[in-house]
Amino acid sequence: MRDLSIVILAGGNGKRMYSPLPKVLHKVGGLTLLEHVVATAKCLNPTKMYVVYGKHGQQICEQLSHVSVTWVEQPEQLGTGHALLQAIPHIPDNHRVLVLYGDVPLISSSTLESLLEAMQTTAQGLGVLVANFAEPMGFGRIIRDASGNIIAIVEQKDATAEQLLIHEINTGIMTGTAQQFKKWLPQLSPENSQAEYYLTEVVSLAVQEKIPVIGVRAKCATEVSGVNTRLELLNLERFYQNQLARSLVNQGVNLFDTNRFDCRGKLSVEEGVTIDIDVVFEGEVTIGQGSVIGPYCFIRNVVIGKNVIIESHSVIDGAHIKDNCKIGPFTRIRPGTHLDNNVHIGNFVELKKTHMGENSKASHLSYLGDSEIGRAVNIGAGTITCNYDGKNKNRTIIADEAFIGSGTELVAPVSIGKGAYIGAGSTITRDAPEEELTISRAKQCTIKGWKKKRK
Ligand code: UD1
Ligand code: CA
Repeated sequence: MRDLSIVILAGGNGKRMYSPLPKVLHKVGGLTLLEHVVATAKCLNPTKMYVVYGKHGQQICEQLSHVSVTWVEQPEQLGTGHALLQAIPHIPDNHRVLVLYGDVPLISSSTLESLLEAMQTTAQGLGVLVANFAEPMGFGRIIRDASGNIIAIVEQKDATAEQLLIHEINTGIMTGTAQQFKKWLPQLSPENSQAEYYLTEVVSLAVQEKIPVIGVRAKCATEVSGVNTRLELLNLERFYQNQLARSLVNQGVNLFDTNRFDCRGKLSVEEGVTIDIDVVFEGEVTIGQGSVIGPYCFIRNVVIGKNVIIESHSVIDGAHIKDNCKIGPFTRIRPGTHLDNNVHIGNFVELKKTHMGENSKASHLSYLGDSEIGRAVNIGAGTITCNYDGKNKNRTIIADEAFIGSGTELVAPVSIGKGAYIGAGSTITRDAPEEELTISRAKQCTIKGWKKKRK
């Protein structure tokens, strides 16, 4: 096959989004529309990829500077033909050019492969990806002659009443040789209802030159539905999440409801994972064998080991959780937290930048920040590490097997020795020695007759 150059058109204004953000920077499944298209395009192993950007270009290039494409500016938005004209001089004549749209994010690589395969029979041919839409409103219509050959594409705004009845639409995705595009694009005329240079006009130019125009049908209608409005964006988001949910079910995940699942990033699962309803995953999340995620959890950038149970309403961000841990309900774990095997964290416990060793527990109502906690430590209810003195964050170190009584304040920096006991209600400001009971508590006294006198 010839060398392939892919041109992604992303120069449009996206007016119908009513958004301060350029359209292609809106997201589906946590990834921008443009990144979706680039990722799919990469699967086709192109020699080079170009993105044509318009007046919001600076913002797009800055936000997506990690994306390896060649950026081409379209200084004025004069139509899709004009957009391709900006990129075409960069492409060698003998390359096959595939035109994709930045606002058609869910196009599948298999559909694109079938379009390119169809072109192998005719090296010079022009290929157009088409689809049948029950509601073709707004799309360019495919016009065929009596023998069924494609002879033109007519835009909605330029179509006759009769042409508007056609349900076969132009997806916008098209392929031809660079040499032909170089010849045809300068011939486009803006004499149409939108006074734009339509890329679709190359179809008529090809027909005049008796170059075969091949229509290939997209595998599913939704993959070629573009985003023009926010409602269309929402529809694509649901479609994407539903597809992802189904593929997880096919991998053996015990997912309670494919319609109440959201992943805005990358989720990797081992066998026998259970995910209850309304869990939101963000960033990169890995879940080990047999782990269970309860309902209404938010989980971002977390590695979860095997047989971990996360109960409902837990918020976990930037953490490593090893095997057999039990977390929640209502636990908040913040970035930099590492839990070794079999740690239990209960309700209303907040952890930040804290490492907890094997078999340790913090079952109720605690804040543990900037702490290094050993093995088999028991943190009583209401324990607070006072890690911030108004200026610096200070560390709390609690050695193996220590027992921290309920309602303890650990004023950092402070160390609790191995096997130490801290009496409930203590405010610990100095290091506590190992294996001893340390307690700091005002002595309790009863003032006899006080109540009587008051009356
Ligand atoms: C286009 C097609 C239409 C097709 C539809 C499918 C033309 C003339 N029409 O219409 O046949 O059914 O897509 O979605 O091609 N763009 C630029 N620069 C411009 C104008 C557009 O880069 O000056 C980019 C946009 O960012 C977008 C794509 O080209 O990614 C399509 O532009 P848009 O204005 O949305 O075209 P449609 O009217 O939807
Ligand atoms: Ca469009």
